[in-house]
Amino acid sequence: MKLKYKVCTIELIGVTTFWFWLKGAMLQCTFMSYIKFNGNLWFFFIQFDTSISIKIEVLLTLLIKLFSQLKVRAAVEMALIDAVANSISMPLWRLFGGATNNITTDITLKVGKNLKADIEVLQAIRAVHPDCSFILDANEGYKPNEAIEVLEKLYEMGVIPVLFEQPVHRDDWEGLGLVSHIAKDKYGVSVAADESCRGLHDVKKIIKGNLADVINIKLAKVGVLGALEIIEEARASGLDLMIGGMVETRLAMGFAGHLAAGLGCFKFIDLDTPLLLAEDPVLEGYEVSGAVYKFANARGHGGFLHWDNLACSSGVVVDYGIVYLFHL
Ligand SMILES: *[C@@H]1O[C@H](CO)[C@@H](O)[C@H](O)[C@H]1NC(C)=O
Repeated sequence: MKLKYKVCTIELIGVTTFWFWLKGAMLQCTFMSYIKFNGNLWFFFIQFDTSISIKIEVLLTLLIKLFSQLKVRAAVEMALIDAVANSISMPLWRLFGGATNNITTDITLKVGKNLKADIEVLQAIRAVHPDCSFILDANEGYKPNEAIEVLEKLYEMGVIPVLFEQPVHRDDWEGLGLVSHIAKDKYGVSVAADESCRGLHDVKKIIKGNLADVINIKLAKVGVLGALEIIEEARASGLDLMIGGMVETRLAMGFAGHLAAGLGCFKFIDLDTPLLLAEDPVLEGYEVSGAVYKFANARGHGGFLHWDNLACSSGVVVDYGIVYLFHL
């Protein structure tokens, strides 16, 4: 049932999961995402079969042109890297360097204007997970002086975050530098750039101006190859690294986890968003036990789509560039 042909204008939300496998000499891929369109949530698939040797370039160009969104590019990169791992029967975490097969996610507290309520939430979380370090994420919410006040209040209460993420607006570079210096000198707290860091260019700016201690890398924001570039630059200059995610399923989050485990270079890990999805259409890929995610020796990503979980949903299929919207 063909309903509409225009996907490029629809905003992708949630994002980026993929499914990729090899069948003899043929490569099959399903890339999956969520979109919000006319107030409804739609599932979104790209499916293709192709011979690896000749078609990948063409396909990538087509997909990137068609969607020209970093999130989509990230998904396609993930799919291709997963295909490589599958083809040599290696789990992704080993392909990325095999530093370790597990990661421990930190606890992130999003703070806003109601600091008192936020601190109550924090204390409740700490009662359950006393050993977890916690990260304060302001999501650009403060003016520089307000950000310092928050640290001061927490300090008075004896709760010191390990990290203060994006305290000020993304374009307030001067404010970012100011908060970073005071946080470090006075409270011993590191500051991370998240929204301020949208690519290699921003990383260089942060290094040059000594504006933050940590860079938060999100694959949906910078792509996999983009992330690897940033990691190299940051490590060379002594910046610490954090890995985070958007609202993603186990597929995209698992990929980020594999990368973090395999590279072993992330000081801060914030990969808890699959817990935020009411239903995750993806199964396996990693085992969760408390705050520890453990990756198996299965080849590639190790996760797969659970079609039953999609049963009552709507969807879009893109097949060789032809887009169908349909109801499953
Ligand atoms: C996590 O990885 C470390 C380092 O490789 C290892 O020592 C530890 O036993 C692993 N933990 C689990 C739960 O597998």
